[in-house]
Amino acid sequence: MSVALEGNILVTGTSRGIGLELVRQLAQKSGGGAHIYACCREPEGAGGQALRQLSAQHPGKISIIKLDVADEQSISAAVEAVKKKVGASGLNLLINNAAINKPASPASLLSTGKKDMMEVFETNVAGPFLLTKMLHPLLQSAAKSCSAAEGMSCRRAAVINVSTLLSSIEKCPETFAMAQMYPYRTSKAALNMLTSCQAENFRADNILVAAVHPGWVRTDMGGEQAPLTTEDSVLGMIRVLSTLSSKHSGKLLDWEGNSIPW
Ligand SMILES: NC(=O)c1ccc[n+]([C@@H]2O[C@H](COP(=O)([O-])OP(=O)(O)OC[C@H]3O[C@@H](n4cnc5c(N)ncnc54)[C@H](OP(=O)(O)O)[C@@H]3O)[C@@H](O)[C@H]2O)c1
Repeated sequence: MSVALEGNILVTGTSRGIGLELVRQLAQKSGGGAHIYACCREPEGAGGQALRQLSAQHPGKISIIKLDVADEQSISAAVEAVKKKVGASGLNLLINNAAINKPASPASLLSTGKKDMMEVFETNVAGPFLLTKMLHPLLQSAAKSCSAAEGMSCRRAAVINVSTLLSSIEKCPETFAMAQMYPYRTSKAALNMLTSCQAENFRADNILVAAVHPGWVRTDMGGEQAPLTTEDSVLGMIRVLSTLSSKHSGKLLDWEGNSIPW
């Protein structure tokens, strides 16, 4: 059964691409009581312009929060700001969407160095790890405030880590030739393990944790050749998120709800 997403929802990396579209569609489709915490690195600068416009179109529904997921102090400050706003209601849904792919595509072995590897892991793995760890008490509060009969869902309390088909070790023989991307692939495989660990760790709290592949999407990262628009990818992802339950916790799914092997 598909139900509208509700409550306090936080999305990272919302200045453009899939993150911006997630905020747009969540503002349109979530229930009346929903509030979206749209995180970006530059709320007041050029990077936050599209978000500010979106926020003006949905008065009272979107709060823009400054967050650089590669910076621990920035994560702490963002968590404090969100904590003050949500109070005892806690956080219902965290979407770890922000990520980078370095060096620029095609990111072959020869063009990749240690600095690329470290930067990509800092943003794509350490960022979601620390942010989720610091937001865990708020997710626990949201999970506790629902009746025990409710079960796990993205309406109650959930963490969604935006992963990729390219993270799948089983699929690597099929996907390697089209995109080598050593730092990106290994960071997303690590994000999958993070998803699995968080799912086990948070199960007793009734917090659902899943990884979602948005498809190959036409964004700055996905490039112009990508077949999917951000609208269709996010439409699918929100539909999938609305149907998740305990049996999906610890799984990697695509934007159409199909399971992807680790
Ligand atoms: N596009 C695809 O085909 C595709 C396929 C599979 C998975 N994905 C995944 O989908 C997610 C979104 O990708 P996208 O295509 O929308 O990418 P994108 O167009 O490159 O946008 C990336 C977003 O992440 C933000 N970001 C990067 N580093 C950040 C940091 N340190 N702190 C906070 N925000 C940061 C960017 O903010 P700035 O504007 O400040 O740089 C931007 O808002 C990523 O997790 C990506 O791995 C994408």
